[in-house]
Amino acid sequence: MGSKLLILTFFVLSCISVCSCRLSTHLSNDLAANKTKAIEVVEAYARHLNNHDCVSWVNLFAEDGIKYDEPEPSVGHKGLKAFCEGIYEELPSFFYTLTETPLVTSSKGLRVLSKWLIGAADKNGKPLGQTGIGSYIINNDFKIQECTGYDDIPLPQ
Ligand SMILES: *[C@@H]1O[C@H](CO)[C@@H](O)[C@H](O)[C@H]1NC(C)=O
Repeated sequence: MGSKLLILTFFVLSCISVCSCRLSTHLSNDLAANKTKAIEVVEAYARHLNNHDCVSWVNLFAEDGIKYDEPEPSVGHKGLKAFCEGIYEELPSFFYTLTETPLVTSSKGLRVLSKWLIGAADKNGKPLGQTGIGSYIINNDFKIQECTGYDDIPLPQ
């Protein structure tokens, strides 16, 4: 009787450990896949801007998504579309590139950091260049909930 109970206990315990191990492997694969998807959103952000595809670019954002940038935030799809169209009005020749592999972590949403370089010429052909960092919060639907652009400003020598 005692040995049967022991075998049963052993059986139940091994089932539990196999199952929980499967579950945690599944979750970590899931997290890795989620991080990859979050980075793909940031890469698409750069690609759509370069293609001057404001419709696809805006669709990367949540309906109430916000882009914090100068001079003031762009809020919601309507505000974001105006921001995107404004870029090409101001800077007919514009490109945006990620200069390093984006960094990603997950904590209440996926959070991505990317280093970027913007190159452009203004309407008079004057060249402009700016480097900086973008930070993104990607929601559960893999939409951008908010993003913030930071400019590199050289320290005075
Ligand atoms: C991966 O993303 C899905 C969809 O947002 C979410 O339901 C799931 O909890 C995420 N998994 C992990 C481990 O973060």
